[in-house]
Amino acid sequence: SGYYWFEGIPFPSRGFQKEIIEEVRDKFVIGDEDIIILAYPKSGTNWLIQIVCLIQTKGNPEWVQSVPTWKRSPWIESNGGFQNLTNKERPYQISSHLPFHLFPRSFFSSKAKIIYVIRNPRDVLVSGYFFWYKTNLFKNPDSLATYFDWFLKGNVPYGSWFEHTRGWLSMRGSENFLLLSYEGMKKDPRRTIEKICDFLGKKLEPDELDMVLKYSSFQAMKENKMSNFSLITDDIAPNGLLLMRKGTTGDWKNHLTVAQAEAFNKVFQEKMAGFPPGLFPWE
Ligand code: A3P
Repeated sequence: SGYYWFEGIPFPSRGFQKEIIEEVRDKFVIGDEDIIILAYPKSGTNWLIQIVCLIQTKGNPEWVQSVPTWKRSPWIESNGGFQNLTNKERPYQISSHLPFHLFPRSFFSSKAKIIYVIRNPRDVLVSGYFFWYKTNLFKNPDSLATYFDWFLKGNVPYGSWFEHTRGWLSMRGSENFLLLSYEGMKKDPRRTIEKICDFLGKKLEPDELDMVLKYSSFQAMKENKMSNFSLITDDIAPNGLLLMRKGTTGDWKNHLTVAQAEAFNKVFQEKMAGFPPGLFPWE
């Protein structure tokens, strides 16, 4: 379970190669028509991918039921993701967890649309703990308390949540940047799908929208082999991976102690000072 640091970010050694991450940043050409789904890990990335895929097929579930998530919407920075893209035609639908400063430079002079989803970092922390500790992708925390410390220090895959979020939120107000929250998606998934359609310039009939809703629900994704990660049984996760764990907001309250919650608040206020109140729907 090794990892290495690149440009201040810890990356898992398995599946992620420094040379590829560097090449993606310096040489990968993003096209104007490409769609990018970006999130700090455990924020609802796969949910958003499912929704966007279903919008592309006007709610027809055939694609999301026959092709796994990582082939429908490859992670550019992963070894496999890079390969998954090489045979595809433009425009690409791309997923990534990269921080702002490691994202392909070509993007910043393109018109490509990017959807960034944020989630209460306390829930991200808990979700990440239960996800990573089962994998060979990172060092294994002996307890949630250990992982809690690592998370606050940014010593977790893809680095600090605070830096990641600050970096990407600097795009707020750009025409090609749509900001969503996991909490907003939970509260009103239909409205979320409409927002995404507007942003992407897609129009769905009401019954098509119903289908998008249906096949992107927690239950549907949990039962779908192509979206629940159960197909990942290689050396990354010999005991299997559980992506569709709980799918709720506020689960952190069941896991963090009062002292941890207070320590977290303090760090949050410090690191996220300066953002308008209301930007973070969970605060
Ligand atoms: P939990 O571990 O809290 O259950 P990511 O895709 O960025 O890795 O995020 C994974 C988190 O999103 C998991 O959170 C997972 O359950 C949740 N998730 C995935 N699909 C979802 C859906 N359709 N509805 C609600 N939550 C979903």
